[in-house]
Amino acid sequence: MENKNVFIMEHPLIQHKLTILRDERTGSKQFRELVSEIAMLMCYESTRDLPLREIETKTPIATAKTKVLAGRKMAFVPILRAGLGMVEGVLSLIPAAKVGHIGMYRDPKTHKPVDYYCKLPADLNERDVFVLDPMLATGGSAIDAVSRIKEFNPKRIKFMCIIAAPEGLEAFTKAHPDVPVFCAGLDDHLNEHCYIVPGLGDAGDRIFGTK
Ligand code: PRP
Ligand code: URA
Repeated sequence: MENKNVFIMEHPLIQHKLTILRDERTGSKQFRELVSEIAMLMCYESTRDLPLREIETKTPIATAKTKVLAGRKMAFVPILRAGLGMVEGVLSLIPAAKVGHIGMYRDPKTHKPVDYYCKLPADLNERDVFVLDPMLATGGSAIDAVSRIKEFNPKRIKFMCIIAAPEGLEAFTKAHPDVPVFCAGLDDHLNEHCYIVPGLGDAGDRIFGTK
C-alpha cells in the first residue's frame, strides 16, 4: 500500500525491539520496557518536522545564535488502556508535553470501539497532538479517537502505533487522510477475531499482565 502519509519506521533498533516484543515468551515487565523504548525511538523519528525558532545564547566564550522548539508545547493522547504503555517513553524525550486520555475498548462481539472516557488538555487548538496506541487493527478505535480530538481543532494530529494491520491502515487513512501515521510494523492481516496476524497478541493484557 503506497501512501505518502504512512511512515514505517525501519530503524534497526526499533525493528530489533519489535521482534522481542512479538515473542510469546516475553513477560510483562520486559514487554512494558520495550513498548516504552519503541515509543521513545518512534517519537524521536516522528518529530523531525517540529518547527524551531532562533534565540541568542551566551556560552562561556561568545553569544551564539541557537535554536529552540517554537510554539506551544505538544500534547500526547494515549488511547486507554494499551496506549498508556507508550506514555513514559515519549515523555522521556518531551517531558513538558501535556497528556490527555481517551478511554476506548473493543466490544468483544462486534469489535466496534466503545468509548468510556475523554479528558484532554486545554488550548488544544494551539497544540500539536500525538495520539498513541500500540495496535491499529480494524482502525475503529483510532478513527473514533481522532474524530473526538478533531472537535477541539488542534494545530496538527499525528497517530503513532507499533503494529498496524493493512485493513486498519486503509480504514484510518480513508477516514483521516490529513493525519500522518507512524508505525513500526505493517503486518499481514486480521484473523476472525480481528486480532493482528502475526501481531503480538493483546497489547493491553501483555502490558498489564491481565488475562
Ligand atoms: C486494543 C488496542 C486498540 C484497539 C485496536 O485495545 O490497544 O485500542 O484494540 O483495535 P481496533 O483497531 O480494531 O479498534 P482494546 O480494545 O483491547 O482495549 P485495552 O487497551 O483496554 O485492552
Ligand atoms: N488489539 C490488540 O491488542 N491486539 C490485536 O491484535 C488487535 C487489537
